[in-house]
Amino acid sequence: AWTDLERVTIKDIFSKIDYEVVGPAAISRCLIVYPWTQRYFAGFGNLYNAAAITSNPKVAAHGKVVMQGLEKAVKNMDNIKATFTELSTLHSEKLQVDPDNFMLLGDCLAIVVAAQLGKDFTPVVHAAFQKFLAVVVSSLRRQYY
Ligand code: HEM
Repeated sequence: AWTDLERVTIKDIFSKIDYEVVGPAAISRCLIVYPWTQRYFAGFGNLYNAAAITSNPKVAAHGKVVMQGLEKAVKNMDNIKATFTELSTLHSEKLQVDPDNFMLLGDCLAIVVAAQLGKDFTPVVHAAFQKFLAVVVSSLRRQYY
């Protein structure tokens, strides 16, 4: 269950950030910091080094897709598990993504959001965002067995 402060804070974060910047930056960072995550993106072409990853248009496009997925969660905060049923099945059965990677991307996202929000990313804002990510991640894990 969410407190009113958490609800307001999450909506506020998503209204302030620029998806076109945050999405690509977070996914690039994940691919660079946790290089084993690259194996799922073999179809994206050249991921040879950090410069190649950050300038790869497929990576950037995918960053925006992930943000659109997260926006659905923000719009359905009381129903994130059900909202992500299909997305969980996709990552589990089709993509076979190791679910331990979900929070790695989440943490990259938190770092990028922190850099964008600057002093507005207070510990209280961080706490609400981390809780939101934890619910997203547990929802994405749900169809794994
Ligand atoms: C695809 C969201 C984490 C690998 C997708 C799609 C969304 C999404 C919305 C598009 C689904 C569709 O086409 O219907 C998320 C969210 C994540 C997450 C919200 C966690 C916060 C990850 C992680 C990996 C991963 C950690 C791998 C390390 C993939 C791959 C695709 C995909 C390989 C297909 C890409 C393509 O071929 O275009 N994800 N994802 N995802 N995701 Fe995730």
